[in-house]
Amino acid sequence: MADIFEKLLKNAGPIGQHRKRAHGYFAFPKLEGPISSRMMFRGKEMVVWSLNNYLGLANHPEIRKTDAEAAAQFGLAYPMGARMMSGNSNYHEQLEKELAEFEHKEDAILMNFGYQGIMSAIDAICGRHDVIVYDAESHACIIDGLRLHPGHRYVFKHNDMDDLVKQLERATQLIQKQNTGGILVITEGVFGMAGDQGKLKEIVDLKQQFEFRLLVDDAHGFGTLGKTGAGAGEEQDCQDGIDLYFSTFAKSMASIGAFLAGDRDIIDFIRYNIRSQIFAKSLPMPIVLGNLKRLELLRTQPELKAKLWENALRLQKGLRERGFDIGKTNTMVTPVYMKGGVEEATAMVTDLRENYHIFCSIVVYPVIPKGHIIYRLIPTATHTEQDIEDTLRAFSETKAKLDAGAYKVEMIPDMAEVKS
Ligand SMILES: Cc1ncc(COP(=O)(O)O)c(C=O)c1O
Repeated sequence: MADIFEKLLKNAGPIGQHRKRAHGYFAFPKLEGPISSRMMFRGKEMVVWSLNNYLGLANHPEIRKTDAEAAAQFGLAYPMGARMMSGNSNYHEQLEKELAEFEHKEDAILMNFGYQGIMSAIDAICGRHDVIVYDAESHACIIDGLRLHPGHRYVFKHNDMDDLVKQLERATQLIQKQNTGGILVITEGVFGMAGDQGKLKEIVDLKQQFEFRLLVDDAHGFGTLGKTGAGAGEEQDCQDGIDLYFSTFAKSMASIGAFLAGDRDIIDFIRYNIRSQIFAKSLPMPIVLGNLKRLELLRTQPELKAKLWENALRLQKGLRERGFDIGKTNTMVTPVYMKGGVEEATAMVTDLRENYHIFCSIVVYPVIPKGHIIYRLIPTATHTEQDIEDTLRAFSETKAKLDAGAYKVEMIPDMAEVKS
């Protein structure tokens, strides 16, 4: 019999295989100093484009004050236990109430993490006779939620409404044949890689033709889209048609935790049946009080969202004017598509960081097809005109070098932290 660990040592995985050269640089980098548009990386100040600190709340003085005071008052332990048993508080319930009101839903439930939360919500809602119909580019947490689902699941091509109709027809036929079960459609408000919005309005309109419920993961839309910042449903004027609205606090709220909002009875069912919350300690009080404060600023300081958009549009305009392909983004998430191998991409990123002092995430094979490179830029309210100008110049110069073959290397550069 093989040692179960043996295969782990033989094959470290698609990214892990590069860890000896990549650790601490291309993977697991350490950004230091106060969170802002410029941070320290390996002793150099960089313009940072890889933090989902959309509204700049991470280091906002009022937020830092609330976080510190709440930690001093309650510590990290309080309240102890799972919410259902001993870990509930008036503040947890207040945050749920305020989130529900903000999202125009009857009720909301807090979750410790978005990832486990959405997986577990899917598990709580769907039984073995139900069918899940989901967008092909759904986030990993949705895909893992599907893995918990014992029934059928049909995928529709990304944002392709004709294909969604086909899958809804298949799902409806199956349910009719079984004579039991229902359909849950899952999509996202904003797709975090390409930056395009899910076609929520068109999906909601399909409710006239098919019977289904809609769950939307709006991790990137919450706080950034819609008149009040309530997200992609508000932006597309179809919030009422979203049966379950989900967002994490890890992006525009610059915090941790998540929530799911919907009809009171449904949220109450989930509250009493969601395993990742029932069998886990509740969110610590400083996080809850910090999130209440963040929600207050998100609601009352619309200038933060306005600044985010000003920066995002300036960056995107500058990239387009310089001939860059930024695809079909219609949100602040800004991908820049280029062509090249994994080794070339890493050589280019090294140049970008070491000589231009620009830090952005890069996406390569196997996350996307071979031969493609995506720079993924996340503008925030904290970026300045200077940050944007420096970045555009650096991109133009490094792209010219890429096209001239200057980054053709045999192996990814060895940038790993020196091990003692
Ligand atoms: C679309 C989407 N859903 C869910 C999550 C998970 O949220 P959390 O970080 O709270 O676990 C993320 C996170 O990064 C995300 O981008």
